[in-house]
Amino acid sequence: MDSPADIQIVRTVADLRSCVHNWRRSGETIALVPTMGALHAGHLQLVQHAQTQADRIVVSVFVNPTQFGPNEDFAVYPRDEAGDTTKLSALGCDLMFVPPVEEMYPPEALTRVSVPSLGDLLEGEFRPGFFTGVATVVCKLLLQALPDVTVFGEKDYQQLLVVRRMVADLWIPTRIEGAPTVREADGLALSSRNAYLSAEERSIAPTLNRTLCQIAADVTTGADPIVRGELGAADLLRAGFTVVDYVTVRDAETLLPWSGPARPGRVLAAARLGKTRLIDNIPLP
Ligand code: PAF
Repeated sequence: MDSPADIQIVRTVADLRSCVHNWRRSGETIALVPTMGALHAGHLQLVQHAQTQADRIVVSVFVNPTQFGPNEDFAVYPRDEAGDTTKLSALGCDLMFVPPVEEMYPPEALTRVSVPSLGDLLEGEFRPGFFTGVATVVCKLLLQALPDVTVFGEKDYQQLLVVRRMVADLWIPTRIEGAPTVREADGLALSSRNAYLSAEERSIAPTLNRTLCQIAADVTTGADPIVRGELGAADLLRAGFTVVDYVTVRDAETLLPWSGPARPGRVLAAARLGKTRLIDNIPLP
């Protein structure tokens, strides 16, 4: 166990459990914020949200190999443990859990957790196996840390729903909290992958959020959600996005097609700008 500055860094489940156990024995509550590191203001907002929910804050930093497809960016995904440590120390975060891959996935481990249906739609369709990777690693993290509350960003809205479903189905004793998406001034949702954008791509990227806002306004005043999604996809291509995976209005709880104003709705999109895949979503008002 090493402890630079005022934050503890632990790399094994045994050390994590020992810290959590000591806090619990003194009556303190624990919040977990799972991350893949390269922390930006969006992550820090999750930590600040967690600080309003519990006495002690654990942030996990683990680039989870099982949620990356064979042609995805696992090898080059941004990693910055020193920068993450400084940012979390400055916020007064208590503990960083930074396990090596062999701690999370020992060679003999076989078990995977999957959330079919909900996990097969949208992101699951375009990134096969992604939510099995996410559900597996989040399940492990929750059982390792046993937090009272766990905080996820609404930026990855389908991930939030998948994790909620898994926690309910498996009776994992934690409360899942969603925290609102943090955006740049021009509306672009903060994401570690924004770092991949060229200057020209960065200038096009805010069109994603603008398109979602326009669709939300239009379907709320009676536009056909399917037609409006198709027009939104065309808008993105015209603006310079290279591939549009989906632009769609869905039921905010089931992610099935939105059936109208009696149900809560969410507009979701995923599109590529060159090599960078961006996702975003907003609620219907
Ligand atoms: O949202 C992320 O950063 C990851 O999917 C998560 C939840 C940390 C699991 O690896």
